[in-house]
Amino acid sequence: MIQDISKQKAFEIERKKLEEQILLGQKMESIGTLAGGIAHDFNNMLGVIFGNITYLLETYEAHEEHQELIEVLSDIKDGAERAQSLTQQLLTFSKGGKPVKQLCDIRPIIKESSEFFTRGSRTKCKYCFAENLWFAQVDPGQLNQVVSNLVINANQAMPEGGIITIIVENSIIDLTNSLLLPPGNYLKIMVKDMGKGISKENAANIFDPFFTTKSKGSGLGLTTTYSIIKKHNGHIAVDSKVGQGTTFVIYLPASDSTPNRLDKKSITVHVGKGKVLVMDDDEQVQQMTGRMLCRMGYEPHFAIDGRHALEMYQEAFNQKESFKFVILDLTVPGEMGGKIAVQKLMQIDPNVKAIVSSGYSNDPVMADYQSYGFCGILPKPYSSVQLAALLNGIFED
Ligand SMILES: Nc1ncnc2c1ncn2[C@@H]1O[C@H](COP(=O)(O)OP(=O)(O)OP(=O)(O)O)[C@@H](O)[C@H]1O
Ligand SMILES: [Mg+2]
Repeated sequence: MIQDISKQKAFEIERKKLEEQILLGQKMESIGTLAGGIAHDFNNMLGVIFGNITYLLETYEAHEEHQELIEVLSDIKDGAERAQSLTQQLLTFSKGGKPVKQLCDIRPIIKESSEFFTRGSRTKCKYCFAENLWFAQVDPGQLNQVVSNLVINANQAMPEGGIITIIVENSIIDLTNSLLLPPGNYLKIMVKDMGKGISKENAANIFDPFFTTKSKGSGLGLTTTYSIIKKHNGHIAVDSKVGQGTTFVIYLPASDSTPNRLDKKSITVHVGKGKVLVMDDDEQVQQMTGRMLCRMGYEPHFAIDGRHALEMYQEAFNQKESFKFVILDLTVPGEMGGKIAVQKLMQIDPNVKAIVSSGYSNDPVMADYQSYGFCGILPKPYSSVQLAALLNGIFED
């Protein structure tokens, strides 16, 4: 009889957990739709505000008589920076925030991001990474957001400073787990602090959009974190004791790919030859990419928009001097961008190799590039090593 009641209780708790998760999922979805609608435009507008403030600051920085103006501009710039990081969070859990996953060793991402966000504070980070950790298919930018949100919260919970311990280990989840996860290999990440802890009532709400106990908090940090982990098919939970500290536990599906392949790919330089077409409306981007391609042995040609790129491609194709590959900017203001250009290029040459490059790594095209006709992506800004690694991948098979 006693056993029966405890079974029933455990079942009730599980059912409640499940209901809470479903409810949270629904809340996230509606807020995500709303956020996605405005965040993208808002981000572009902020880009303009930001760019122009920076321009004014550079113009007046050297003039001592404009000291007051510079101070005011610096304050506006700080505000714009905060607004930008907020929009970034909104973009991430909106519909467009699909992760662009790649095989990663998550240790350097965790270390860099946690160190960055505790710099200059009285808090130190301690790492316990298990040996032979598995690799994972993750979006490095989004994982960085997850770690930074957790570390910032942990740091804020310890105003006098303290230690944040980050533990990463391999974990095998079996069929009987209560985490609602499919069985398999996972990376278990724990972020522990020695801060003030979270009360039972608050713990039920911390992942809710806009829930905050801080006077200057937006309450989006953990919402974004939750949404990112879900999009990576993982799980996040919290364990906290008031006055003692808080531990966030994350499970991320591990990949069965081996580290060796990854190492080899990221170190190799790329060598090639032939004509390459670079389409970008920004002349400085053209020049930079051109320089990288020249060094690899290619002969770069440039187009300022999709239409221009199509003309150049058609002409080369007619003369049987096709471009070896093309790099297309995803968005060209007011003109044809990469998404349409690649469709038209495929009509000219079904074997065209097109890479899409974009500053909007959140754009759905970037997450699903293959179904749009591209063979690779270059999130801006990119380095020559990233370009080389991508080209090695494309021309390997
Ligand atoms: N490590 C922690 N220790 C104590 N309380 C925490 C911790 N992490 C989160 N919380 C609680 O959860 C709430 C929600 O956190 P969340 O990161 O979503 O928003 P925020 O930190 O308040 O604002 P922001 O949008 O700036 O991150 C916090 O206001 C705080 O009350
Ligand atoms: Mg926060």
